[in-house]
Amino acid sequence: MTPAERGLAPGLRYFPDRFDRAAQEVLVAAIRAVVAEAPLFMPRMPKTGKPMSVRMTNCGSLGWVTDKDGGYRYQPTHPETGRPWPAIPDPLLALWDAVSGYDKPPEACLVNFYDPDAKMGLHQDRDENEFAAPVVSVSLGDQCLFRVGGVSRSDPTRSFRLSSGDVFVFGGESRLIFHGVDRIYPGTSTLLKNGGRINLTLRRVNP
Ligand code: SIN
Ligand code: FE2
Repeated sequence: MTPAERGLAPGLRYFPDRFDRAAQEVLVAAIRAVVAEAPLFMPRMPKTGKPMSVRMTNCGSLGWVTDKDGGYRYQPTHPETGRPWPAIPDPLLALWDAVSGYDKPPEACLVNFYDPDAKMGLHQDRDENEFAAPVVSVSLGDQCLFRVGGVSRSDPTRSFRLSSGDVFVFGGESRLIFHGVDRIYPGTSTLLKNGGRINLTLRRVNP
């Protein structure tokens, strides 16, 4: 166990610098190809229709989407183009095999793009039908302040400054923990030419 992993709740794992710079560049190129096929869209909160500050797309057989009327859900096609999502890039499938401990491949990879002023409120990932598989999260680009709590919203939280190439896994007893992104630190990475942060989360949706 690395020092960074020490003290983490059961089911939480943190792999700082899991992807080196060259591997990060390969991932960014793969994500650019995904975005070319499946453009970023502006997700909207259920009921209120309020836009979230991140822009999103997906790859995989299913993608996570949200809008005013349909709410949070997984679907096999892009909400604007109606086309199937592109395939999950190989290095991400290999990461899943290495760290998930789950015998089937991920079905969804949510791609979140954060501008310098974007954030994401504390929430649980619970729109999946399979909680035996973890959520595997990859950070690229600018650093962020990532906050993780417990399985109740009122549980104490702890913050991590995630850097480009870091991988965070929440599974087991921590599969349903609350988590969110409080802020982006602009100018902390040279990976993305226009700055910002990309987060990739791999999920298994169905058992
Ligand atoms: C998410 O919870 O969907 C994103 C987390 C992150 O950006 O690190
Ligand atoms: Fe999440």
